[in-house]
Amino acid sequence: MGKNYKIALIPGDGTGPEVVREGIKVLDTVANKFGFKIDYTKFDFGGERYLRTGEILPDSAINDLKSFNSIFLGAIGHPDVKPGVLEVGILLKMRFGLDQYINLRPVKLYPGVETPLKGKGPEDIDFVVIRENTGGIYTGIGGVVQPGTSNEIATQVMIYSQPVVERCVKFAYEYTRKRNQRKQLTLVHKCNVLTYCGDLWVRVHKEIGDKYYKDIKQDYNHVDAAAMWFVKSPEFYDVIVTENLFGDIISDIGAIIQGGLGIAAGGNINPEGVSMFEPMGGSAPKYSGKNIINPLAAISAVGMMLENLGEIEAARAIDKAISDSLASGKIKSLAVGKMGISTSEVGDLVAKKL
Ligand code: IPM
Ligand code: MN
Repeated sequence: MGKNYKIALIPGDGTGPEVVREGIKVLDTVANKFGFKIDYTKFDFGGERYLRTGEILPDSAINDLKSFNSIFLGAIGHPDVKPGVLEVGILLKMRFGLDQYINLRPVKLYPGVETPLKGKGPEDIDFVVIRENTGGIYTGIGGVVQPGTSNEIATQVMIYSQPVVERCVKFAYEYTRKRNQRKQLTLVHKCNVLTYCGDLWVRVHKEIGDKYYKDIKQDYNHVDAAAMWFVKSPEFYDVIVTENLFGDIISDIGAIIQGGLGIAAGGNINPEGVSMFEPMGGSAPKYSGKNIINPLAAISAVGMMLENLGEIEAARAIDKAISDSLASGKIKSLAVGKMGISTSEVGDLVAKKL
């Protein structure tokens, strides 16, 4: 008998529900094939519920979510809600509330997918960004005085404690070892200018590596240089570990070189708790209900979720099915409206390849 997983679904706004539907299609197919069971519980958090009830993500929901094996999220973002309200109130609240201290963003160019990088192919673009996900500037410490005047002063502080850096760097070393490719962990920071926080990260990266991970090659890039290298020589990377805001920025450079938001997926991971997996594309409200949005990122997020749950074979099967679907030539482009087939047909195609 296979395991039984309890999955919380947050389809969210705009095209979120459409891509989640295809993710579930693939998840059900793979569960059947590999002999495990999934129970879904749906939550309606998002812009619609906020506009209707004023409720964003209540504390009780964080508690409820703790009883699941994993969370699958579609997209959050509503044109009638001021930017920031839902991002902070749902996505960040979930990260902090569930202590999802790792943000995992694989950057993988599948065969048949176009990259904006001239002369680069799938053999060059295959690395992972591990972003610290609850600290740094995102901690939310700071303030403002005399707002709206010419004397206004605002601060937003980069905060890091040794344990918060250490748990992230440890996860990254473990991940690099398990990934078992070039066995190279690149720390990305800006230690030439951010001499306090940068120095803390540099020391922890070196100390932990020297002590426990002699099999892993240590490497360091300043973040501005990394932004260039991502474009010029992506083949240089295996696993990258970085602080929160730098990671936010460079993982989007990663997303575009792997073919864009139609394919980029991410995980918000608590290695000891409940993690959340999502496509990175956003809610794209103007495309909702048209059955034209690309669900591959959501399907890829399902694969990441299964890997995290320990269903390694099933996760590999999804990865291969995505790859085979793209190689089949049936999906003309990853861009919304240009796929040549519909959202649900892409889901059917991946499910069939399984
Ligand atoms: C991401 C997003 C979020 C972030 C936003 C929506 C709060 O950009 O997951 O990368 O900044 O972390
Ligand atoms: Mn981001």
